[in-house]
Amino acid sequence: MTRSFPAGFRWGTATASYQIEGSATADGRGPSIWDTFSAEPGRVADGATGDRACEHYLRYDEDVDLLSGLGIPYYRFSVAWSRVMPDGRAIEPRGLAFYDRLVDKLLQRGITPMVTLYHWDLPQALQDEGGWPNRDVASLFADYAQTVHKALGDRVRQWTTINEPFCAAFIGYGNGDHAPGIQDEGAALVAGHHLLLAHGQAAQALRANGGEQEVSIVLNFAPVLTDVDDATHREAARKFDFLHNRFFLDPLLGRGYPPELLADLDHLGTLEPAIADGDLEVIAQPLDVLGVNYYAPARAVPLDDPEADSNCPLPGLRGMDVLPPRGELTSIGWEQRPESFTDLLLWLRGHCPGLPLVIAENGAAFEDEVVDGRVHDEQRVRYFAEHLGAVHDAIERGADIRGYMAWSLLDNFEWAMGYTKRFGIVHVDFETQERTLKDSARFFADVVARNGLIGL
Ligand code: FCB
Repeated sequence: MTRSFPAGFRWGTATASYQIEGSATADGRGPSIWDTFSAEPGRVADGATGDRACEHYLRYDEDVDLLSGLGIPYYRFSVAWSRVMPDGRAIEPRGLAFYDRLVDKLLQRGITPMVTLYHWDLPQALQDEGGWPNRDVASLFADYAQTVHKALGDRVRQWTTINEPFCAAFIGYGNGDHAPGIQDEGAALVAGHHLLLAHGQAAQALRANGGEQEVSIVLNFAPVLTDVDDATHREAARKFDFLHNRFFLDPLLGRGYPPELLADLDHLGTLEPAIADGDLEVIAQPLDVLGVNYYAPARAVPLDDPEADSNCPLPGLRGMDVLPPRGELTSIGWEQRPESFTDLLLWLRGHCPGLPLVIAENGAAFEDEVVDGRVHDEQRVRYFAEHLGAVHDAIERGADIRGYMAWSLLDNFEWAMGYTKRFGIVHVDFETQERTLKDSARFFADVVARNGLIGL
């Protein structure tokens, strides 16, 4: 039996600039917060940096050929702000020219480019001015968006402003596990608001340039589970759900920040003063599509002692804790639970009626080994089969899902985990830069070719 996807379903793979490009100082590129952060001892596993990564800046031609050999028709990549504007403001034409070549090459091979303007690599020069907690960064981002759109907008129709503002704000400025490595929960909330503002201003700037484009933002969602169905557990889950899933989504939908969430965070005293008149209108620019990243659910539990340590990325969200994942985990320690993916998509169907969804990232890290030129990554094949099945279930139950991007095309620099976690459907030997198709690449190519899944 084949479970078919809707006609015109967009199949693709996704990558991000800092994770694959390397060539960190080539052609005038300025440092980003990830260059600075990864150079600090103890921040990234094995002291790894993105200096070389997958050398995609040099090997993009080969990588696009690989994609076209697999017959995967869409490619989601991100533009490095500090390549295009090394100091966050002045244009570096050589940096912009790289994306020009990449887009041309993709189109030549019949692959539709999908551009993400911000996948976490803020120019360090702007971090030196305060980074995302500085409101000015939002309008600088809109200028940058307009510049990139002017250069590529004649050929690129699909534009994502920001990838996962949750991580950029709460992991970058809250628990400090990501660049710029700051631990200041009040600043993290303000950063979150400014990321949304940057999205809204950039959406306006993209549309002001004219042309026909589809504007989106990509959010990472974590459906929240509890072990016990009672009032205190439900309240713990509600808190985490509102922080993780609705802090960003509700303002984008024109509903503002949920009042319960504002109350949960009120003691930090920073969010409401940062919301200027008119901000919520700017943030609520119409979305043509919503990008959804899903990896794993979260499990919430109440915590009586407000001073107790919490695993929540924003420990200041008092009264709840996040339990360790359980069951079958991927090698990065994330729980595998495809049914939570279906639940999430059905929840979105109800919460944002009329808004089409694209799965902008989904995938898994496992320990892979190249043996005789092959990588038998059965676990990843199973992960994709189950999660694609979960997406299909949601479509059958009425969710409007237009596409699916596998994370990731290549093994790459997995942020604070460096090169220790492999998410690619293509294996990369980071010494020789050799690319080897994994079985999951063949599996995915087969799904794409049939626009359907067999036997599930
Ligand atoms: C997401 C990021 C992406 C990648 C995956 C595994 O949060 O957007 O860059 O690291 O996780």
